[in-house]
Amino acid sequence: MQNCYILGIESSCDDTAAAVINNGQILSNVVATQKIHEEYGGVVPELASRAHQQNIVPVVSQALRKANIDKKDLKAIAFTRGPGLMGSLLVGTSFSKSLAMALDIPLIDVNHMQAHILAHFIKDEDKSSPEFPFLALTISGGHTQIVKVNHYFEMEIIGETIDDAVGEAFDKSAKILGLPYPGGPLIDKYAKEGNPKAFKFTKPKVGPLDFSFSGLKTAVLYFIERETAKNPNFVTENMADICASLQFTIVDYLMDKLKNASKQTGITRIAIGGGVSANSGIREALQKAEKELNWETYIPKFEYCTDNAAMIAMVGELKYKTNYTADKDISAVARLKF
Ligand code: KG4
Ligand code: ZN
Repeated sequence: MQNCYILGIESSCDDTAAAVINNGQILSNVVATQKIHEEYGGVVPELASRAHQQNIVPVVSQALRKANIDKKDLKAIAFTRGPGLMGSLLVGTSFSKSLAMALDIPLIDVNHMQAHILAHFIKDEDKSSPEFPFLALTISGGHTQIVKVNHYFEMEIIGETIDDAVGEAFDKSAKILGLPYPGGPLIDKYAKEGNPKAFKFTKPKVGPLDFSFSGLKTAVLYFIERETAKNPNFVTENMADICASLQFTIVDYLMDKLKNASKQTGITRIAIGGGVSANSGIREALQKAEKELNWETYIPKFEYCTDNAAMIAMVGELKYKTNYTADKDISAVARLKF
């Protein structure tokens, strides 16, 4: 097969990333995570765009070097158009446009949420790709959706959060517990040593395929306030049990919705994507469902769960092979829909 090197660029939030793909195979996948936000307890948009400006050239150079190619070997450049933070998206968009123009090669815009789903089509010796149609649960810091994927670019959102995203529920609860940002991975870490039945949190009630997480965050806040009034060391003494119980509730809630979606559509091929799919609880629950419910489940490799450019390059390749090219005057869209 002829070489077809495509560069992917991702800058929608607080990770500056670049990757090179060649016929479905990832040759390099470089991510510069911005540490600056930790001290603020969340992403500061102004600081994020400034850090993208600093990181983008070295990150792209490193991706080309690791892939062992020259920029002149590239066939196209794919970039995240949205959804995301406008200031962050603009850095990747302008950089990609300029490079595509300088090299006189096609520019391809990519929807970040579609990319989290289509990351499952990256060729990997250990993993197979789902056949169509399949259901995708996209769980990240900005989104929580159940998507019916009929074909690469034929996707239908059949359920979503009515308020916060599940990643926010993890991060905001972690903040209440005094943990640094992003708290999701830390809750996961502490949960491994705790008892998931130690404390009970109520699962919010909304439509069968929809989600709500703002109530859960408030419930955690009141619970912690109540308990620390009785025992000031409550959080430190019970960290593992609190995290395990919280994670158990969230995972159980996500699984309830997936089961409803599977029942409603008759589809048993289930994929997950987005940063929260790195969570060990949801991974275990899906593996259990594979045996108990006869589901075929698709769980991405860790490096393709959180924000990365390999998934952007993958979508770029799929679009490139249909001869798609974006207009050179295309711009970033913060609230980009499917
Ligand atoms: O997809 P992503 O990297 O960025 C967005 O597009 O939002 O997702 C980031 C989110 C954060 O909320 C982070 O806390 C969460 O994914 N996350 C986790 C885990 N790893 C990342 N949440 C729970 N458990 C994890 N292991
Ligand atoms: Zn993401």
